[in-house]
Amino acid sequence: RTLLAGIDRFFAADVRFGRRPYTAEALTELRAETAPDPHRPTYHFSPPANWLNDPNGLVYWNDRYHLFYQYNPGGPYHGTIHWGHAESDDLVHWTDRSVALTPSLEGPDRDGCWSGCMVVDDGQPTVVYTGADGRKQLPCIARARDDDLAAFEKHPGNPVIESPPDANLYATEEWDAEFRDHEVWREDGTWYHLVGSGIVDEGGTVFLYRSPDLTEWTYAGTPLVGERDETGGIWECPDFMDFGGEQVLAVSNLDSVIGFRGSFDGDTFDVDRQVTFDHGNFYASQSIPDGDRYLSWGWIREDREESAQWDAGWSGALSVPREISLDDELSIRPAPELSALRSDHESVDERSLDPDDDNPLADVEGAHLEFDLDVTLESADAFDLVVRASPDGAERTVVRYEADGTLTLDRRDSSQSDAVATEPQSIPDVPGSDPDRIRLRVLVDASVLELFVNDRTALSSRIYPTRSDSLGVSVRARGGRVQVHSLDVWTLDSAM
Ligand code: FRU
Repeated sequence: RTLLAGIDRFFAADVRFGRRPYTAEALTELRAETAPDPHRPTYHFSPPANWLNDPNGLVYWNDRYHLFYQYNPGGPYHGTIHWGHAESDDLVHWTDRSVALTPSLEGPDRDGCWSGCMVVDDGQPTVVYTGADGRKQLPCIARARDDDLAAFEKHPGNPVIESPPDANLYATEEWDAEFRDHEVWREDGTWYHLVGSGIVDEGGTVFLYRSPDLTEWTYAGTPLVGERDETGGIWECPDFMDFGGEQVLAVSNLDSVIGFRGSFDGDTFDVDRQVTFDHGNFYASQSIPDGDRYLSWGWIREDREESAQWDAGWSGALSVPREISLDDELSIRPAPELSALRSDHESVDERSLDPDDDNPLADVEGAHLEFDLDVTLESADAFDLVVRASPDGAERTVVRYEADGTLTLDRRDSSQSDAVATEPQSIPDVPGSDPDRIRLRVLVDASVLELFVNDRTALSSRIYPTRSDSLGVSVRARGGRVQVHSLDVWTLDSAM
């Protein structure tokens, strides 16, 4: 690890002279070099090469969406974290930009520019991020030098908060305290700032600070402390959404993203109920307001061995932008803009499907597909959608909806490699008004899979078929009849 850190530092120094793998040109070349990997998604954002984790600093600025992300230029592993950068004018097609934030050789972010957000302060986009330095994690800010958000000037007074509040925080072998990731917004002339953390013997928490100017912060307590056994001991990546009458706070608890619905009065967050945004590999989500919706992205982590990630030369993908809105229920679906990528289309008319019927999707195949289907289990025990199937069926991934309301992603036969995760992932009690009926939207993008269920929750995952002909799809009724109300499949074009 020390050797790797040394190599990282060498690269980190290199960036000052504009050499690869940091510049937009170099990154675009690297993306082309790693493109032949069959597990590389083409419409989900993934790093040009090397490592990606959390989405950061999302902002719509100067007619463009900007996406930053935790990036290690040193290789496909977590270390010496920079902020990678891409931009889009339609939320669908992304262009690589040069690396935007680099750890300083000396300073409070010398060991990494960790996760954070972007706010616009008096017309100037400003990043609030975690500086990692030795045993410390502390908030730093950096102001945009130009309208392309290509370069940022770090505030000379960083870190802008000198130490975590005097609460009973976790100290580990590595860290004095877990105190990181930032959600900042402005209300009535005051900046509000949530930092993720956890209180020993209590549970995950967010600390609240207020400021008139983003640099002088006053500690204002803990709006919410979770129960460690229920929602985890440490919260990272706080993400606050304000829907007017109601607020939502999402946090990542070292395992998954959990959401709280309730009300925030400026001091305290009163929880009404908990929501699950995603039941799979989705992590460290971040959202931004966009008209009357929120757009949210999360990191969909790998599920294959590290050595396979080294061989591939890249690691990590982001979800597609998800549209989150709140009426009575929280709704979660792929941003409608994605339909711009649709090309070949196959649809099945309203029909009933019996267990011994021929596969109505026998003509469809692909590794980059979108499904939108609406079915009712009449007398059936279950309905299966099978994707990435080899002609002999030896490799296949099964999405199964059962009459007891469980949706399962069965990955046992997804890959013939034994260096990948195979455990099933499931949504135990699918939310919806009619338990027999399900609307499923499924995005298949090489190794990335996202399932959206009844527009109410999601499950994202990773699969690694080994065979180039594992492209088949099918639908099947099990143990009885299924009514298909609608079933559409599109091939999706590349977004990069
Ligand atoms: C979440 C996280 C954040 C941290 C970042 C470091 O995945 O651990 O808490 O800021 O990643 O890369």
